[in-house]
Amino acid sequence: MIYLNGEFMPIDQAKISVLDRGFIFGDGVYEVIPVYSRRPFRLAEHLARLQSSLDAISIANPNTNAKWAELVGKIIAGNPWEDQNVYLQITRGVAKRDHAFPKGLTPTVYLMASELVTPSAELMRTGATAIVLPDFRWLRCDIKSTSLLGNCMLRTLAAEADCAEAILVREGEMTEASASNVFVVKNGTVLAPPKSQLILPGITYDVVLEILRGDAIPHEVRPVREAELRSAEEIWVTSSSREVLPITTLDGKPVGKGKPGPVGVKVHALYQQFKARVMRAPAHA
Ligand SMILES: Cc1ncc(COP(=O)(O)O)c(C=O)c1O
Repeated sequence: MIYLNGEFMPIDQAKISVLDRGFIFGDGVYEVIPVYSRRPFRLAEHLARLQSSLDAISIANPNTNAKWAELVGKIIAGNPWEDQNVYLQITRGVAKRDHAFPKGLTPTVYLMASELVTPSAELMRTGATAIVLPDFRWLRCDIKSTSLLGNCMLRTLAAEADCAEAILVREGEMTEASASNVFVVKNGTVLAPPKSQLILPGITYDVVLEILRGDAIPHEVRPVREAELRSAEEIWVTSSSREVLPITTLDGKPVGKGKPGPVGVKVHALYQQFKARVMRAPAHA
């Protein structure tokens, strides 16, 4: 079951106009909210990021957070999986094709869900592969825009090289990956690039930093040079669906010892504990 502009329906009955600016220009923003045991994880943070994305492209938020929570709850209840990705998209709406944002449109609001499948135990044991590519996307990667052509091109280049991710470098510094944030471990210290307009402020990135602080694991939030990425002892990519996934091969060469390193294994375990703790807490705590 999906939600489109006020109605719940099966996905094959959903229709939008060919003049929707989301279709014509990619003029919209989105969120992907992980759901464990039918409870959304970090919903308030996802809705805050949604508000920032909407503000950045001057679309008025069509719903209050209470209304979003209600819609997300109904989508969760209307779909068969215990663990889900709830996808939520807002476009500017329907208008005659013209680049400048028209005023006064009714935004198109769409929600759907899919099964959330986190990395298998086998993948967590071996780690994943990645390649390094130049970050040729635009300069507002902090907006969670549906205009994802650059990310799609980069992920396709990774897939063609039999890699799970493309880790991106701009002017000699690591930014993020095609659909995840990146942490490295260098000389025993975890390094994370600071938030800026060049990366998406990941909700998982924030959780990982909370874990690093909470467990007093040595870490620094500072620019990471390409050379540090290439000589790192450990590399992890983080996202709502990949959680904390070790990268053990970079550009065909082993990262560290070529298997998941101790810091990443520990942070992944702490992430699982964190999730379990939050999900056990009373629903409106
Ligand atoms: C480009 C990019 N960076 C980072 C992330 C990670 O964000 P989150 O942890 O909120 O899933 C994503 C998520 O899809 C992404 O597409």
